[in-house]
Amino acid sequence: MSEWGGLIALGIGLALLLALAWWLLIASEGVYLGRRVVIWLYDLYAHRYNDVKDYYPEYEQLYLAEPFLDALAPQVNPLVLDVATGTGRLPLALALHPDSRGFTIGVDLSRQMLHHAINTLHPHEERAAFIHAPAENLPFPDHTFDAVTCLEALEFMVNPQAVLAELVRVLRPGGLLLITQRINTRLLPGKAWDEAQMLAALEACGVVNSDIEVWQMDYHKVWGTKAGASDPVGARPATAVTRCPRCATVAWQIHGDEWLCETCKATYPVGSDGVLEFMQPA
Ligand SMILES: C[S@@+](CC[C@H](N)C(=O)[O-])C[C@H]1O[C@@H](n2cnc3c(N)ncnc32)[C@H](O)[C@@H]1O
Repeated sequence: MSEWGGLIALGIGLALLLALAWWLLIASEGVYLGRRVVIWLYDLYAHRYNDVKDYYPEYEQLYLAEPFLDALAPQVNPLVLDVATGTGRLPLALALHPDSRGFTIGVDLSRQMLHHAINTLHPHEERAAFIHAPAENLPFPDHTFDAVTCLEALEFMVNPQAVLAELVRVLRPGGLLLITQRINTRLLPGKAWDEAQMLAALEACGVVNSDIEVWQMDYHKVWGTKAGASDPVGARPATAVTRCPRCATVAWQIHGDEWLCETCKATYPVGSDGVLEFMQPA
């Protein structure tokens, strides 16, 4: 091969490598490299997340909080779980809504994203709590929440179907599910679902009345209800519904900046910012 031929081959090789790195680390946010990489990238990027997303508070009220609360009406004090809460987008939208009296627990595996969430919610701290825990194994008993949400996150889970089942597990019968669906599924093969796949996945988890509607540029909003019926749960503190990751009971004593499980005596620290640390060894 001539010298030029070698240089061209090297250039093409480098361009292909860059394209692969872009797809693996940026377009698909690390999901094909495993959960650790996804969370590492979010930890790295957390301080820029809100600036990049640039959510308009008015739109968050109009297109998120209001339709969500309308769907829950007449209940005004829902107990809500926001899985993969990130920097606390949904808890904030609900806390700022004048008619909402509920309580939201935000769960995420990126500790840095949660740090931003809890700082943002600080002026409304009686309206939300944040727990560092995985979406795959939510620390709550079955049928706990009036509503469960998971926005812009399911496609970045290593096993989205298993996470969907987990979201539905902790929702009470008749409770409201709100998730999002990526519109362009080509860049996330096997992770992002088209409408038919989404509806089939919801049905398989026992979700009824599913409905998909236009939302943002990259996403649809997907609504559903857990089959069955039950009484509303209503706002209550995280200590009343969070189960111990070790023994799965809900029985806590709070000692300063530590949660002590009354049953198995495991302890879990509360970070200096107020986030409950379920990823620390008990
Ligand atoms: C695009 S952000 C969405 C954040 C927020 N829901 C929003 O709409 O702004 C995706 C979030 O999913 C979280 N995440 C990804 N995989 C997770 C997992 N297995 N368990 C919990 N959180 C996860 C990331 O840390 C990140 O905060």
